[in-house]
Amino acid sequence: MSSKWWQKAVIYQIYPKSFQDSNGDGIGDLRGIISRLDYLEELGINAVWLSPVCRSPQKDNGYDISDYQDIEPIFGTLDDMEELMREAKKRNIRIIMDLVLNHSSDQHRWFLEAKKSKDNPYHDYYVWKDGVEGVPPNDMRGVFGGSCWEWVPELQQYYFHQFVPEQPDLNWENPKLRQELYDMINWWIDKGAGGFRLDVIDQIAKEPDKGITANGPKLHEYFRELSKNTFQRGDYVTVGEAWSATIERAPLYSNPDGSEFSMVFQFEHIGLDQQEGKEKWDLAPLPFVKLKEVLGKWQTELYGKGWNSLFWDNHDLPRIVSRWGNDKEYRIESAKMLATVLHGMQGTPYIYQGEELGMTNVQYDIDEYNDVEIKNMYKERLTAGYSKEEIMKSIYAKGRDNARTPMQWDDSKNAGFTKGTPWLKVNPNYTDINVKAQRNDPDSVFSYYKALVKLRKEHEVFVDGTFKMYLPEDENIFAYERKNGNERMVVICNFYGTEIMCPLMDEVKGMDLILTNYKDTEEAGKLRPYEARLYIK
Ligand code: GLC
Ligand code: CA
Repeated sequence: MSSKWWQKAVIYQIYPKSFQDSNGDGIGDLRGIISRLDYLEELGINAVWLSPVCRSPQKDNGYDISDYQDIEPIFGTLDDMEELMREAKKRNIRIIMDLVLNHSSDQHRWFLEAKKSKDNPYHDYYVWKDGVEGVPPNDMRGVFGGSCWEWVPELQQYYFHQFVPEQPDLNWENPKLRQELYDMINWWIDKGAGGFRLDVIDQIAKEPDKGITANGPKLHEYFRELSKNTFQRGDYVTVGEAWSATIERAPLYSNPDGSEFSMVFQFEHIGLDQQEGKEKWDLAPLPFVKLKEVLGKWQTELYGKGWNSLFWDNHDLPRIVSRWGNDKEYRIESAKMLATVLHGMQGTPYIYQGEELGMTNVQYDIDEYNDVEIKNMYKERLTAGYSKEEIMKSIYAKGRDNARTPMQWDDSKNAGFTKGTPWLKVNPNYTDINVKAQRNDPDSVFSYYKALVKLRKEHEVFVDGTFKMYLPEDENIFAYERKNGNERMVVICNFYGTEIMCPLMDEVKGMDLILTNYKDTEEAGKLRPYEARLYIK
């Protein structure tokens, strides 16, 4: 199999606000990122997915863009961005930009024009509906709460927004709007972007009249037009974020013919620990056997037909070691185990900043949080009669700020993230968990991730091997085999904190134990708490 560079790659996600501050204002920035490129090179990653750095009023931390062709001043300048791309390139790291094409900021020039009158040329760049004040066109609800419709008295019209009102939805039905977006993307390509992550891209083909947000009838038509006019100019990696993508649709998103995107970023495994049909805040224990079924399905059914992203964490999700690992007595073991399970599968692995250190969730007072989603939910649920305690429990478990606390570089004040006051409080455990403590420690979570990244480059079986799940019904063990013409890899992991028997020893007879999270040699037949083993022959 001849594989593409991004099929062999590992991608590192940077949330710029929280990565490294360079000027003491408490906010991470581009110059801060440039100063940490050597660290990323050492980890061995091939590309950085940079969450949005374009001009933005930051109502949703950059996912509300007011100018797609300029850099937000808190992050730096266009020159800094070009320098970042150049400096990254020297280290063989490509910069993947985050394209927010479903909506803009309400401060975008297009929207300011659109609001002026119904016959303004930009009016049709957004989605409008005539109406009367107080009676929205329908009862569609936004992702962050509230109605999807916002009244503009001057026009006697509502506009449509799937996220907060300051994020009006763009009207993809308008060919002029689409062309502007393509021109903008091509401009970034010319500036040196190495790829693009497409924010909530499954929601662009909305038809609010019919209550349709995700998976509109024209979705894949738009994808193909977008790709043809931009990404197909070269060898760019593109990843489509799609909460609604099913295994049936994924081959369209990521067709090997390159007509849409390189890969899909879907969330089927992520939604498992919530009560069915409810919100992510409605917690439920992880159904482990189901987790294996879901991940296994994506491995076998997409094989040869498309390409998947492998991730546990991102800026919208809690820290995996706190979520499905054990961030108390087995933090290091379980962080390594979770990494092993994920990186051994087929797809392109993503490491979210700090995951490679085993960074954990936080528990703050409600006033110490920043995220608009947390704040809206808190108010809504208080009004709906939930107890404060219950709400806080959900925030501790699933709040997006868990992943957004500053990167922990060392044990100095504010973890070496800033000399000023950080925009979001640093996790108090930074004195123990930080880059400085882990970088030169061969047994650290960091060193383990580094080893995994390296293995993927050395063994093609990570990329093209077939997948077979072992013991799908087992309540503790996550184990599988990957195989191609030359090599066989077996991953055996104990997903929990109790010691158990390992019924798979025959499967690994004569194989080499390449990577494991316990120092002493394996005790034949037993799996210790969160033990992970990766064999290759
Ligand atoms: C995506 C982003 C998230 C953002 C939302 C709206 O899900 O990852 O952070 O709030 O889109 O743009
Ligand atoms: Ca700064």
